[in-house]
Amino acid sequence: MDNMLLICRGLCASAGEKAILHDVDFEMRSGEAHVLMGPNGAGKSTFGHVIMGDPAFQVTGGSIVFDGIDIVGLSTDKRSKAGLFLSFQAPVEIPGVPLRSFLRAMVDAHGLKMKNKEFKGRIKELSAELDMNPAYLDRELGVGFSGGEKKKVEMLQLLLLRPKLAILDETDSGLDVDALSVVSRGMELYRQECGGTLLVITHNTRILERLTVDRAHVMVAGHIVDEGPASLIDEIDAQGFERYETAGLAIEGK
Ligand SMILES: Nc1ncnc2c1ncn2[C@@H]1O[C@H](COP(=O)(O)OP(=O)(O)OP(=O)(O)O)[C@@H](O)[C@H]1O
Ligand SMILES: [Mg+2]
Repeated sequence: MDNMLLICRGLCASAGEKAILHDVDFEMRSGEAHVLMGPNGAGKSTFGHVIMGDPAFQVTGGSIVFDGIDIVGLSTDKRSKAGLFLSFQAPVEIPGVPLRSFLRAMVDAHGLKMKNKEFKGRIKELSAELDMNPAYLDRELGVGFSGGEKKKVEMLQLLLLRPKLAILDETDSGLDVDALSVVSRGMELYRQECGGTLLVITHNTRILERLTVDRAHVMVAGHIVDEGPASLIDEIDAQGFERYETAGLAIEGK
């Protein structure tokens, strides 16, 4: 259907008693890059988690169609295998497990048929492209990794898995200059090498400098209150979210 990869219609979601997303309509075509902006507490991360099927949230109305399939009833694992990827805000630490083994297990768990030789070649190539010291591949997963190094691992995962849709939820906190350039580079490679579809959740417009954005969405208090071309990002950067307050929506955390 017109190359649509993700279609949310009237999506409502809660965490227990608390209703967070209200009647969200959201569409992305295959190959596009979108940005989701909004004040703190608007529901942006929740939206990412609901699409990924995080059991902490319940869909109370509406639909999520990904790649032609209604995914609301699917587990996170099934969604991941169907080609969805959500960045981890806090990557795991697993003492005793080398990064290389973890990546190998991840590739296998996704049913990607990759021979060991190809896998080795690919992670070598990707670590070079991400300017990552190959010695990290033999280090214990996450243990003692800096913010920038954790981001490199995340981007390595993304580029190995080559999902159809990557949702990168980048909170401002924890994104130092290093991490910022890693994410920019990772996004660039994902777009160039995988032709990937990308949804970036961010307040930080510096992360978008090297990305051609097709569409921006604004979420306030769990509602999509505005949508437009990339120029909307600059408008919000200059003016903030105040103009949406007239819609009568309480902006939490302000
Ligand atoms: N598991 C949960 N249980 C209860 N409330 C939750 C849960 N997760 C999120 N919320 C609440 O839902 C609202 C939206 O949170 P969310 O993290 O999605 O906002 P956000 O737009 O990502 O904010 P930020 O820009 O600060 O990252 C907040 O009021 C938050 O406290
Ligand atoms: Mg968030």
